[in-house]
Amino acid sequence: MSWSPSSWRAKPVVQVPVYPDAEAQARVEAKLKSFPPLVFAGEARNLKRSLADVAEGRAFLLQGGDCAESFAEFHPDNIRDTFRVILQMAIILTFAGAMPVVKVGRIAGQFAKPRSTDMETQDGVELPAYRGDIVNASPFDAASRTPEPERMTQAYLQAASTLNLLRAFAQGGYADLHNVHRWNLGFIAGSSSVERYRALADRISETLEFMEACGITPASTPQLRTTEFYTSHEALLLGYEQAMTRIDSTTGDWYDCSAHLLWIGDRTRQLDGAHIEFARGVNNPLAVKCGPSLSNDDLIRLCDVLNPSNEPGRLTLISRFGADKVEEHLPRLIRAIKREGRKVVWSCDPMHGNTIKSTSGFKTRPFDRVLKEVQNFFVVHRAEGTHAGGVHLELTGQNVTECTGGTAAITDADLSSRYHTHCDPRLNANQALELAFLVSEGIRAERFKTPRPVAAQ
Ligand code: PEP
Ligand code: CO
Repeated sequence: MSWSPSSWRAKPVVQVPVYPDAEAQARVEAKLKSFPPLVFAGEARNLKRSLADVAEGRAFLLQGGDCAESFAEFHPDNIRDTFRVILQMAIILTFAGAMPVVKVGRIAGQFAKPRSTDMETQDGVELPAYRGDIVNASPFDAASRTPEPERMTQAYLQAASTLNLLRAFAQGGYADLHNVHRWNLGFIAGSSSVERYRALADRISETLEFMEACGITPASTPQLRTTEFYTSHEALLLGYEQAMTRIDSTTGDWYDCSAHLLWIGDRTRQLDGAHIEFARGVNNPLAVKCGPSLSNDDLIRLCDVLNPSNEPGRLTLISRFGADKVEEHLPRLIRAIKREGRKVVWSCDPMHGNTIKSTSGFKTRPFDRVLKEVQNFFVVHRAEGTHAGGVHLELTGQNVTECTGGTAAITDADLSSRYHTHCDPRLNANQALELAFLVSEGIRAERFKTPRPVAAQ
């Protein structure tokens, strides 16, 4: 079972494009191989250690960002807004849920998309499906839809520049807890989650003043002024991932240096397939999406292949069933994992099983379905005595109208006003905060074993 960064090429592969110019593809991949890594192996190991805390019930994972980053929306404000809303959610979870939070963005590399069909037909014309800006472009014409290898270089450069700004935000003062009020600026006042956040920020400010009086200051305690923020994306476009895979000079181990954490999607988790083959050989923390079609036996085999030494923090299982199917599928998977003594992080993606087409024709997600899947996730874990370890979300820091519902009561008719996503509908900033408050209640209920119902306000 020898492994190399290219051993996936001998396996059946799905969801990767066929480039018409194979030589150009090889040229770009060779060039990428000579580019600097985007992350350091040591950072991926730090994340793995933090995820081990999650696996052992001592921390919570918050993973979120765009469904697909795009070249067109590459702008510092968008990066800042996503970073800020994740920071706000993390504050809510840390303070209201009383649990350390591991922050991981779907950002700085989340470009490639799996599709339900290879081809798309419009008015009798058939063209390759749009697979994300790292592969082709979304306008429905033959030139745009042709896979173009140079897009991999552009995606790399955008990821590098995005990561540079994220590192600056995380370490350079923006994430200082004393800014807890400032992160709320630009939000529409009056909505209940924004007001709730404001009240929580007041309490944090007061606590900080008290701590300062006791001599605990940002100068003496760097954790007050900086934060750890990690990156992740779906390891889908394997030629790109292979090119970013390097040997870590300190340990001699392979790491995929395109992001700290890589996940395998629900459509590419075949045990004998190329994606699992690639993932098993890199030492980054990994995640696998678990949809309704995943059998208990296959889940255990995936653990065998991806985490043979049962190292906590190595493997995160992201369940995504749809709100009404959680109770049918999650308990059986949890029991299989418990029976086999596997150490995993359980995370909940309440987005991908709850996508519908609205009557006006938009792809949307009803916010109450999203909340329901998260609630059911907590309820099932409480019943099974396992740690509801995290959430995986598609969100944006902007005030878009892509998911219906929430306190702003976005209706089907509102969707067209600010529907900006390049792929799936995302939670907007208000909906993200609302969800964070719900999650914080779930965490508290698990942590303090209070009889409080999960959805209590
Ligand atoms: C995604 O996370 O964007 C995605 C496509 O998810 P899944 O593989 O769970 O469908
Ligand atoms: Co998506």
